[in-house]
Amino acid sequence: MAQQATKTRRKDRAREAFMLLMLSVVLVFGFGLIVGKQETSNLQQAEAVPRTSAEETSETESATEAIAVNAQPETETMPEFHQASSFRSAEPQIYLRVNHTKQMELICDPGVNLSEAIYGVSDENIAVVDEFGMITGVSRGECTVSVFCGTETLKVPVTVRELTVRDGCTYVDDILIANKSISLPEDYDPGMLPETAEAFEELQTAAAELGLNIYQGSGYRSYQYQITCYNSLVDAYGEEYANRVSAKPGHSEHQTGYTVDCNTINETFINTPEGQWLDKHCHEYGFIIRYPKGKEDITGYDYECWHIRYVGVEAATEIYEQGLTLEEYLDVTDVSNHYDEENEISSSEAEETAPDDEMQTGYEDENLYSSEETVYPEEMVLSETVLEETILSQYQETVPADAEDDGIEIIDAPLEAP
Ligand code: DAL
Ligand code: ZN
Repeated sequence: MAQQATKTRRKDRAREAFMLLMLSVVLVFGFGLIVGKQETSNLQQAEAVPRTSAEETSETESATEAIAVNAQPETETMPEFHQASSFRSAEPQIYLRVNHTKQMELICDPGVNLSEAIYGVSDENIAVVDEFGMITGVSRGECTVSVFCGTETLKVPVTVRELTVRDGCTYVDDILIANKSISLPEDYDPGMLPETAEAFEELQTAAAELGLNIYQGSGYRSYQYQITCYNSLVDAYGEEYANRVSAKPGHSEHQTGYTVDCNTINETFINTPEGQWLDKHCHEYGFIIRYPKGKEDITGYDYECWHIRYVGVEAATEIYEQGLTLEEYLDVTDVSNHYDEENEISSSEAEETAPDDEMQTGYEDENLYSSEETVYPEEMVLSETVLEETILSQYQETVPADAEDDGIEIIDAPLEAP
């Protein structure tokens, strides 16, 4: 009897254990289903919420992966977040000015027929696109251009900027620009701006923590001082060379109050730890290398690894990450790369003569391009002795005493002007 009772209890326990096991399996499976559903619904919800272009770009990879895993052959209804894998945009982000037009450049795998592509924009108040992918800026803001081809849709963020001239200074959105074609008024004299000085101090401190010594050479330069710098270079090395390394008066970024020349004004600076660090990290403090290597045809100047320009952390980071010049970022390449006087534009001239809409859209009116020779003020013609003294003092100020100890060879340094 006792044996029989024990057997029955064992059987009961075994049944209970089996039931428990089954219950656990059901629970685990059910939970998995709920989580799976929740994830899908999160993804759908996320897609239903309008996102910024930056978010879209950064989410591209994970969204593509999610689609690849869950992909069902879809031809009719393409998910909003779909990103094309067989074709892509040459520019991950398109920058455009109001009333400017840019052809969307697509790179595609063999077999993709782009003539079948259908283009669209998310907001026609910001930009429009034609059937060939030609995008035109309408007003300042951000939108997305979509390209539908085959079974895939590609989305590319577009930023439309606005050019304005205020008190003779040219701004694209809120960034002040001075380059070979866009000038500053002679009396624009802000000195070194506090935001530049503060950001530079932060940069110096961060570098010092790593044992790097970044110091300021030339900072703010007035219109008058630029006359001296430019002229001394013309006299010392000739006009052709001077134009490659120095801005003419009114065209120097040093006059903006946003610029610092760091350490040694010589290309060998890039071979020093300081030069390397500056190149890779100055954007974290809001600066860009204003005249990058390989972009001379756009900026109009030789590579200057020492010349940094403050534009704020957000813009500097975008410019750095996309390997752009300020001209490309602001879409002013059309008026920036020639230095002959025929193409020179004076902001004050633009302000006086440009009709209202052209003031907003850029220098489209050919009358704004002065065909007269630029006549420089008499002060530019300095005596040789004054020049030599100026050059020498600038050279001594700019080049650190221990430069040669650092292994930096100073060869025909273009002195202060760059
Ligand atoms: N070296 C730069 C171009 C300047 O003179 O402003
Ligand atoms: Zn400089």
